[in-house]
Amino acid sequence: MSAPMAGASTPKLAAAVSNAGGLGFLAAGYLTVEAMATEVASYRGLSDAPVAINLFTPQTDRSVELGARLVEYRSTLQSVAAKHGIEPGEPTFDNDSFDGKVEWLVQNPVDAVSFTFGPIPPAAVFQLQEVGTQVGFTVTSAHEAQQAAGLGADFVVAQGCEAGGHRGTWNVSDEPNTLSAAEVTEAAMTGSGLPVVAAGGVGGPEDVQRLLSTGAVAIAVGTLFLPTKESGAPATHKEALTSGEFPGAAVTRAFSGRFARALVNDFVRDHDDRAPSAYPNVHHMTKPIRTAAAAEGDPQAMALWAGTGSASAHSLDARTTMAILTGSP
Ligand SMILES: Cc1cc2nc3c(=O)[nH]c(=O)nc-3n(C[C@H](O)[C@H](O)[C@H](O)COP(=O)(O)O)c2cc1C
Repeated sequence: MSAPMAGASTPKLAAAVSNAGGLGFLAAGYLTVEAMATEVASYRGLSDAPVAINLFTPQTDRSVELGARLVEYRSTLQSVAAKHGIEPGEPTFDNDSFDGKVEWLVQNPVDAVSFTFGPIPPAAVFQLQEVGTQVGFTVTSAHEAQQAAGLGADFVVAQGCEAGGHRGTWNVSDEPNTLSAAEVTEAAMTGSGLPVVAAGGVGGPEDVQRLLSTGAVAIAVGTLFLPTKESGAPATHKEALTSGEFPGAAVTRAFSGRFARALVNDFVRDHDDRAPSAYPNVHHMTKPIRTAAAAEGDPQAMALWAGTGSASAHSLDARTTMAILTGSP
């Protein structure tokens, strides 16, 4: 299946993956309720396959606790923002319209909803299940998998340290662990007894087979779908992934306040060790910079999210990528 990727998992990408025999996940993170509804409708117009969608779990508001560090981090962003003729964003906190999104999904049921970045109220799990939706959580350890089972989850997504983009570690201030996708999958199976989707670092069909052999029920692939023509990733991000121009990668809080894996560019080099663990406050501060850089085609100030399989990422279409991954080109 294609993993949910906020900003990249367009309905076209998800539908192309579903129509090729996989399951394309939609990503509702950072979307308004209305935009999420539009994406679901677009996907349904392109595919009769099941609808699966990912939401971000609301975080603890650390704006006051980390206020001084947020102000300090914002001042370190001034020079890169000025290069693009803008100011850094404000360090605001929000819950990504969580209640509105859950309410909409209860009124307009889909087949599966997964939550990333931690637990949600058990009542929300129950409400979604009552309308026939399978509920899952992204987990990065046996402990998180156990907690997901305790919340009544139907499945978990076990995300390894190889994964591109944000790590779903439940506690924002925890260091992300170093377990591989295979190790998290095994730990999650033992910890939860639930069906496990494995995610992280897939670079080709042999990785898919390797992860399936751990007992995972499905494999979620992100980075390999990023440069496809159906993906919503900015052109400069696609180019950075396929050009080989950025050989290094880092797991950094610099872009959002949460750890995420990205190719190393000037932004990572300059800000990696400075960002406080306040999410989404840091995301909102860097967003205008990343948006301006993407519009100007400047890869040095963008978040070039990438998993360890990124060297195998090519600008193919999603159907061809699916055929390669399933070994049936
Ligand atoms: C650009 C990008 C955006 C992502 N956005 C989300 C997201 O919105 N929600 C989520 O649960 N995971 C997100 N992830 C993580 C993926 O769902 C998945 O765990 C990861 O891509 C798997 O590793 P891989 O990229 O090595 O295949 C994102 C990953 C990338 C690369």
